[in-house]
Amino acid sequence: MCGIVGYIGKRDVAPLLLEGLQRLEYRGYDSAGIVVNTPKSPALKVVKAKGRVRELESRVPKRFAGTTGIAHTRWATHGAPSDINSHPHLDADNNVAVVHNGIVDNADELRAKLVADGIVFISETDTEVITHLIARSQADTLEEKVREAVKVIEGTYGIAVMHADFPDRIVVARNGSPVVLGIGEKEMFVASDVAALVAHTRQIVTLNDGEMATLKADDFRTYTTSGATTTATPETVEWEAASYDMGGHDTYMHKEISEQADAVDRVLRGRIDDRFNTVHLGGLNLDPREARGIRRVKILGCGTSYHAGMIGAGLIESLARIPADAEPASEFRYRNPVVDPDTLYIAVSQSGETYDVLAAVQELKRKGARVLGVVNVVGSAIAREADGGVYVHAGPEVCVVSTKCFTNTVVAFALLAVHLGRIRDLSVTDGKRIIEGLRKLPAQIQEILETEEDIKKLAAEYAEAKSMMFIGRVRGYPVALEASLKLKEISYIHAEAYPASELKHGPLALIEPAMPTVAIVPDDDLLEKNRAALEEIKARSGRILAVAHREQEKADHTILVPKNEDELDPILMGIPLQLLAYHTALALGRDIDKPRNLAKSVTVE
Ligand code: F6R
Repeated sequence: MCGIVGYIGKRDVAPLLLEGLQRLEYRGYDSAGIVVNTPKSPALKVVKAKGRVRELESRVPKRFAGTTGIAHTRWATHGAPSDINSHPHLDADNNVAVVHNGIVDNADELRAKLVADGIVFISETDTEVITHLIARSQADTLEEKVREAVKVIEGTYGIAVMHADFPDRIVVARNGSPVVLGIGEKEMFVASDVAALVAHTRQIVTLNDGEMATLKADDFRTYTTSGATTTATPETVEWEAASYDMGGHDTYMHKEISEQADAVDRVLRGRIDDRFNTVHLGGLNLDPREARGIRRVKILGCGTSYHAGMIGAGLIESLARIPADAEPASEFRYRNPVVDPDTLYIAVSQSGETYDVLAAVQELKRKGARVLGVVNVVGSAIAREADGGVYVHAGPEVCVVSTKCFTNTVVAFALLAVHLGRIRDLSVTDGKRIIEGLRKLPAQIQEILETEEDIKKLAAEYAEAKSMMFIGRVRGYPVALEASLKLKEISYIHAEAYPASELKHGPLALIEPAMPTVAIVPDDDLLEKNRAALEEIKARSGRILAVAHREQEKADHTILVPKNEDELDPILMGIPLQLLAYHTALALGRDIDKPRNLAKSVTVE
């Protein structure tokens, strides 16, 4: 989704901002723009382009010198992708430039008032409203002008503002869309995502909702939208610039799938306590007495994180014996849910920014619930809003579709389930059994990754399918859901996912040779039931690709995965299906890292 980068210092700003925008490309966008404060009149020079950052770069003139600037990648909400609708938005006198992430809900109403006062709009965007509000403010300082504007805006925003009359500063404000300051040596950066900053500084300050900041080359200060000074202590981000590089792979998705053994090793590191056969989770903020008092667990997430949450609910229920379920956060927040004081709510999000999840967390907090976060991005909005949580330590995930974060999130849930279980009724023997299983995961993941060539051949065989069915039972069902989502997202092949037990209640009608089925068939107590489903499909001449621990006679092909503990098998069974989706998309020539219509962090409704 939209991205912001800004800089004030001594360096030539345009190349810095363009490089920053490139680092944000992974979030998804349709147009880009840049404004620089130049020594000549008019001071603010702007260039915008529909399309990729390289298109913008080709339009930036040779003489575009300046040491202060802001830039943006836009993901269209109000108004189609076009040069004019791209940010930054300037007023008619070229005094004010604004870049904005988020949505101004009352833009139409504000626009009508401004038009009635004679303001001429040139774009269809909601953002242009903010520009004009700032430009016509009579306040003496830029801070005050911005403050007046944000007071009348309803909705979400992360904004960065430059003003020709205040060339020594950039003013930024945040409400619902991330704004991160990068603190350098006699230079300051601002961005919507640390990815744009880490090549220059790893000292960052994350603004809270309702906070603003003034950046000058050698100084910054933060304050609320009411003007009260706030304290902001820079933190050091652990991710390095190199972790955002492709590292010799052809796509980020391939890189991220390949990194999973190391990523899982990282989420386990330092958390296992062999003495008590349990798990320590430093940031949980949940003492054993409170943990014993939990009567239900409700997990909330979207898309892939929701699927990880479904597996997490199964782990918590089976290992900690607490009733648990997962629900899409996007649905939960609109159904006026009953919030129960004895329920532990867990918000799951790779980015920690997904608006639907954040809004659900805020609603829960408002109603007095206890909310934990299972999040990848340290210091992100959901991590900050939650009462405590577990970081999944997958490292930055750049590809729009999630792979390594899915796996690490499920492992983080397994850790949480052991932790809660050992406080409650999970025996020492079972605690030890699961911990040993967890320790085996990195090597088993590596073993699966080494079968990539075989999976690639299978992908070539199934790539011509117009539609595919994915089935799994109980623990296998979320694996089927996630595998079907991965396939549709990047290959655009239609895919359905069903519990294997539901086949005969309807979807069996779809089975025919042209509709292959991918079946999750673990070697557990449900093996015979799953085999019966394969029989049903075979009897209708359906083709079957099984993911299993042993060869399946009814299947046309079997992808074999190593066996772990029954509870942990879903973690491994998802991985070959990420590779299947990847190679299917590759065979079809898709733009794997940037699938159509999708953005990495969905920070709007
Ligand atoms: C799918 C995918 C999305 C995200 C979803 C939630 O591959 O990446 O479905 O999982 O948009 O994003 P996060 O986890 O950042 O909250």
